[in-house]
Amino acid sequence: MKILITGGAGFIGSNFIRHTLSIRPDWKILNLDALTYAGNPGNFNDLSPEFEERYRFLHGDIRDTAFLEKLFNEEEVDRVVHFAAESHVDRSILGPDAFVETNVVGTFRLLEAAKRYWERTGRPHAFRFLHVSTDEVYGSLGPEGYFTEDTPYDPSSPYSASKASSDHFVKAYHRTYGLPALITNCSNNYGPYQFPEKLIPLMILNIIEQKPLPVYGDGKNVRDWLYVTDHCEAIIRVLEKGVPGETYNIGGNSERENIQIVHLLCDILDDRLNRKGDNSSRSLIKFVADRPGHDRRYAIDASKIKDQLGWKPGHTFEDAIVSTVDWYIGNMDWVNSVRSGDYRKWIERNYQDR
Ligand code: NAD
Ligand code: TYD
Repeated sequence: MKILITGGAGFIGSNFIRHTLSIRPDWKILNLDALTYAGNPGNFNDLSPEFEERYRFLHGDIRDTAFLEKLFNEEEVDRVVHFAAESHVDRSILGPDAFVETNVVGTFRLLEAAKRYWERTGRPHAFRFLHVSTDEVYGSLGPEGYFTEDTPYDPSSPYSASKASSDHFVKAYHRTYGLPALITNCSNNYGPYQFPEKLIPLMILNIIEQKPLPVYGDGKNVRDWLYVTDHCEAIIRVLEKGVPGETYNIGGNSERENIQIVHLLCDILDDRLNRKGDNSSRSLIKFVADRPGHDRRYAIDASKIKDQLGWKPGHTFEDAIVSTVDWYIGNMDWVNSVRSGDYRKWIERNYQDR
């Protein structure tokens, strides 16, 4: 079984590759990644040598039709798992072009190349194209209710609009051409190797370094958090048992307000770093200008994937957030390797006027 992963040098993709190499000994992985600021070959530094013969890195761009043609001509791919994307809402607000380019145009070109390959090779019954998407396509919830697979799309940010658009293309390629494609829409992930521009790793590092903790708005926006390997397990289920043409929502049933997350991270790190009393990291919290178009609440109803494919999260938020904090404390070399000059410029740009 040869699996083409796109965006496998990013946060979720690299966790997926490490996880599947260890639990699926008959899978070979091709990792196609453009190595943008978010893609980091160092995410494989801990890859066990026993996996090296089943893992290959291909430096390329999903927008590059000639590259994709060559790849599909040379490799017998059984499955595609498409993670590659621009993935950060704040970046999409300050620079939406790259989101249209990669998430919309890139996904379209990948679909085209995969369709041509699938048709040329006789439409193999077992071929799958799994598109990894987000719950953000559904927009914002009020205090009640959950996103189901039937919730109408209502994206708020250029990021979620570009992901919504890519989802529509994937559905269209299934309906129009019969491509055996599936979509997963997942809630917010956390865990090792997440680029430190997203809420959890950013706060962990700012707490360690005693920098201000910038909480947008009133801090009461709610996200439904899922540990990254639980997401990976769900993707494997969908890949192996999902029905082409279907969408599966994936969520952790772990809703938290942002301010609750920040308080918890302060408390875990105060304990680890022996900070007490007036020295408590909570004093670093700074409420800053809100994100424009900030979705208030995301919450997933994951009953379809639970009932039909037998998946449920294997980690509790309380345990996995502690192990995530410990991972960052123990991997400051990785952190420093990804915090390049560009990263520093981004932090300055995003937070200077808040
Ligand atoms: P990430 O930003 O950490 O990684 C994205 C990867 O894609 C990087 O390795 C980058 O180099 C690569 N990439 C970007 N543009 C490319 C291009 N044009 N060609 C080839 N490679 C390219 O993102 P992530 O958090 O790992 O998210 C992966 C996928 O999961 C995305 O599609 C995202 O929308 C989706 N998702 C993420 C979350 C989350 O909480 N992080 C939740 C639900 C869904
Ligand atoms: P983020 O990790 O960017 O994920 P998403 O926007 O895709 O949900 O942000 C999670 C939540 O944390 C979101 O409500 C915005 C908020 N947030 C802050 O309050 N401060 C920050 O510095 C960042 C990056 C996010």
